[in-house]
Amino acid sequence: MAGENRQRREKQREERKMGRERIRLEMDSLSRNEEFARVVAAVFMSRLNPTLEEVDDVRTAVSEAVTNAVIHGYNGGEGIISMELEADVESRRLYIWVRDTGRGIADVKKAMEPMFTTDPSGERSGMGFSFMEAFMDRLEVESALGEGTQVMMEKRIGR
Ligand SMILES: Nc1ncnc2c1ncn2[C@@H]1O[C@H](COP(=O)(O)OP(=O)(O)OP(=O)(O)O)[C@@H](O)[C@H]1O
Ligand SMILES: [Mg+2]
Repeated sequence: MAGENRQRREKQREERKMGRERIRLEMDSLSRNEEFARVVAAVFMSRLNPTLEEVDDVRTAVSEAVTNAVIHGYNGGEGIISMELEADVESRRLYIWVRDTGRGIADVKKAMEPMFTTDPSGERSGMGFSFMEAFMDRLEVESALGEGTQVMMEKRIGR
């Protein structure tokens, strides 16, 4: 633990020089934690002086990513979801990682196509990834079957 903290502090010192700040959140996979993640992201990004529209975009993207982890990654069952946020104060960029260690995605390219869904209930429209792509400047999805999924998003704040 002490060693780990020392490593983190050293990393932090380097990052500070570059104007980077970071937080990490770990939460149980529960639908109601989606709102919590959304609020945390909105508060964290306020240090980049975003417009209301930018805050809304990020809230929507985070909501889609966390909801996917809850309903697809863990199928509504137990699991841990982590969200990491990084602000690059100088370049005014926000980076977000949402990770689960759930069932993973067989074909990421296909999953990211608009209106593709594996949900049989007819309640889902298959637009989550499309929204993340539309509201953020960059979206990268990495996944391995049976191991989990990482969604990485980036957005430039204040044009
Ligand atoms: N974290 C994840 N773990 C496992 N599978 C996922 C994950 N995120 C997405 N998927 C898969 O990718 C598909 C597409 O996701 P997307 O968010 O675009 O649509 P959806 O969740 O099915 O519908 P909507 O988001 O519109 O309610 C999902 O149906 C699911 O099969
Ligand atoms: Mg979705």
